[in-house]
Amino acid sequence: MTRDDRLPRDAQSILELAARSMFDLFANASEGMLLVDRHARVVWINDQYRRFLPALGFEREEDFVGQPVSQVVQHTQMHRVLETGKPILIDLLTNRAGTFVVTRIPLRDDAGEVIGVLGIVLFDHPETTLQPLITKFARLEQDLHDARRELAHQRRSKYTFASFVGTSTAAVEVKRQARRAAQSGSPVLLLGETGTGKELLAHAIHAASPRAGRPFVSVNMAAVPETLLEAEFFGVAPGAYTGADKKGRDGKFKLADGGTLFLDELGDMPMAMQVKLLRALQEGEIEPLGSNQLVPFDVRVVAATSRDLPQMVREGRFREDLYYRLNVLPIRVPPLRERQSDVPLLIEALCEDIAARGGGPQLEFGAEAQALLAAQPWRGNIRELRNVLEQLALRSDSPLIDPAQVDEVLREAGLPALAPVREAPRATAPAPAPDIDPRPLAEQVAELERRAIAQALARTGGNRSAAAKLLGISRASLYDRLASFEGLSEFPTTA
Ligand SMILES: Nc1ncnc2c1ncn2[C@@H]1O[C@H](COP(=O)(O)OP(=O)(O)OP(=O)(O)O)[C@@H](O)[C@H]1O
Ligand SMILES: [Mg+2]
Repeated sequence: MTRDDRLPRDAQSILELAARSMFDLFANASEGMLLVDRHARVVWINDQYRRFLPALGFEREEDFVGQPVSQVVQHTQMHRVLETGKPILIDLLTNRAGTFVVTRIPLRDDAGEVIGVLGIVLFDHPETTLQPLITKFARLEQDLHDARRELAHQRRSKYTFASFVGTSTAAVEVKRQARRAAQSGSPVLLLGETGTGKELLAHAIHAASPRAGRPFVSVNMAAVPETLLEAEFFGVAPGAYTGADKKGRDGKFKLADGGTLFLDELGDMPMAMQVKLLRALQEGEIEPLGSNQLVPFDVRVVAATSRDLPQMVREGRFREDLYYRLNVLPIRVPPLRERQSDVPLLIEALCEDIAARGGGPQLEFGAEAQALLAAQPWRGNIRELRNVLEQLALRSDSPLIDPAQVDEVLREAGLPALAPVREAPRATAPAPAPDIDPRPLAEQVAELERRAIAQALARTGGNRSAAAKLLGISRASLYDRLASFEGLSEFPTTA
């Protein structure tokens, strides 16, 4: 095993000497040695090895030596070394005698033929000698397991249709459409104002679809810098870049494989990216950056936007072909003011959630306070309603909220503000300066009327006659108006 014909004679003898001392060292320092011949039969064991024999099930050395090694040492890999000619420098071997750290070295004749294998038991009881290493390994394994589970958890959809609160005609209809879309594999396009629940519905569609067991992956067009979008979508091949991305990175298409890819804020997608996305959707293949290879993908696309896409198409700011590709199952998500009858239910559900997250008691609202909330225009929709409720929860000492508190928070939040409100500002922020309301006068007047009626009903505890008197209109015209506002008819009324 030590001959090297390239060496001069004296060097050759030093090498042989070194080999012999190594052998002696291992023979003395190890826990045992065993030799097998080219037929994988045990031909020799040393004194130390002998003490393992009883544990391996042999009383006498003669019953052990001479036998095929795989018959007398369970789980041995010596034959593998014979076959491959490659050493196994370190390995864990567990059998009925215990667990051992072992080394297996092929032995060759002068012609280089493998003629046997030397097995060395480096140490036994690795659970004590290798404890620090094993502990570290176990901890890393646990961390990996946790990280994987966390990732899988994050990629599951957070909401189901049950999370979409609402029993109004509009809410029931949008859920019906979304449920139907869930069963189809075609692209879904969710259209609606900010805060109406588009993202929530995207999650719910995934959760109700046959892809529910696979990942739900979102890309927010407005949140990713334009230069990074392509890598974000399609990934980067290993070696395409130096530095952080040297190892390559999976894109969202790959991460969503078998599941749903949610394109949020679709209207904010840059033109250059629109071209690339369209091509990918048409071909059913993506090309990771720097790879020159097309990889097929299997994702269902759900897209959402609060922008007026047809208008953007007309203005040349959104590609018409991509629009038609994604507009297969369009779902219009109605604004809150079109489903005011859902406000009490939403208040209840949102307050429950706020209390659960904040650990405080759940807020309660009387009829008047609820009516005040229901009458708001809610330009920021459910997100805005939620912000107002959060403010109330933060500020109020008692869980029972009175109308004056609601009024105060609404006013400070700039509600009912004339400027479009995306997010209700924090309590400390000054109310936004009033701006010109871009809506038609009739709509503004109708809104004012609705609010006045709601407030009057709230003040009179739902008594319609008293409310009509307060407003200076007849009972009949109050009824007329109530009938014309979907939702207000569900305000608490007693007479
Ligand atoms: N029907 C609903 N029932 C309960 N909560 C809802 C409902 N719709 C929306 N929400 C809640 O309102 C908030 C806003 O919803 P979401 O983020 O889905 O809106 P969006 O339409 O995606 O808004 P944007 O266009 O601004 O991104 C979330 O906290 C969501 O959980
Ligand atoms: Mg959204």
